[in-house]
Amino acid sequence: MIVRPELASDRDAVRRVHATAFTTPEEADLVDALRAGADPLVSLVAEEAGDVVGHVMFSPVTLPDHPTLRLMGLAPLAVVPARQRTGVGGALTRAGLDLCREIGVGAVVVLGHPAYYPRFGFVRADAYGIGCQFDAPAAAWMVAELETGYLSGAAGTARWHAAFDGL
Ligand SMILES: CC(C)(COP(=O)(O)OP(=O)(O)OC[C@H]1O[C@@H](n2cnc3c(N)ncnc32)[C@H](O)[C@@H]1OP(=O)(O)O)[C@@H](O)C(=O)NCCC(=O)NCCS
Repeated sequence: MIVRPELASDRDAVRRVHATAFTTPEEADLVDALRAGADPLVSLVAEEAGDVVGHVMFSPVTLPDHPTLRLMGLAPLAVVPARQRTGVGGALTRAGLDLCREIGVGAVVVLGHPAYYPRFGFVRADAYGIGCQFDAPAAAWMVAELETGYLSGAAGTARWHAAFDGL
């Protein structure tokens, strides 16, 4: 299995990954909307024997009171059902966080399974006073600093790209 940047030729396969991993087409549509409108964008695929078996996207998130901070949001992440729990999601997440750090991002937020993301360094965002624009359980709203101390004093409500509105 290799993790690599998404190519234009992967688009249909990426849609299939999200359509099979999730119960609705919302995530596949979200990926298309982010690709069209978000910048910078980190979009990685996991490929096995020529097939795309997983995909992750990271897009900009802002803290309105701290406009100079560079944050990204991890969403969506999906692995085709037959390949779940074999390390694909972990490989995509770790590679994505590394790439975010390389492009100068200081922290990444995620709204997801509280039992899954802490292994990658995510902790509850309320520990930093960072709120979520969506109604979400506190344990599911998490953040990972990519640079120690980056979020000191960074309280506020994080704002995702407009493509997330209405989800
Ligand atoms: C969630 C998901 C991305 C994880 O990817 P994956 O490749 O299956 O996971 P990995 O193989 O990297 O990691 C396996 C570990 O994650 C745990 N895990 C997998 N899915 C989980 C979930 N939904 N909730 C909690 N833990 C989960 C497994 O129990 C396993 O834990 P262990 O290492 O302690 O045994 C994948 O299962 C998926 O696509 N699910 C459907 C879509 C989805 O829910 N996306 C995430 C939205 S936040």
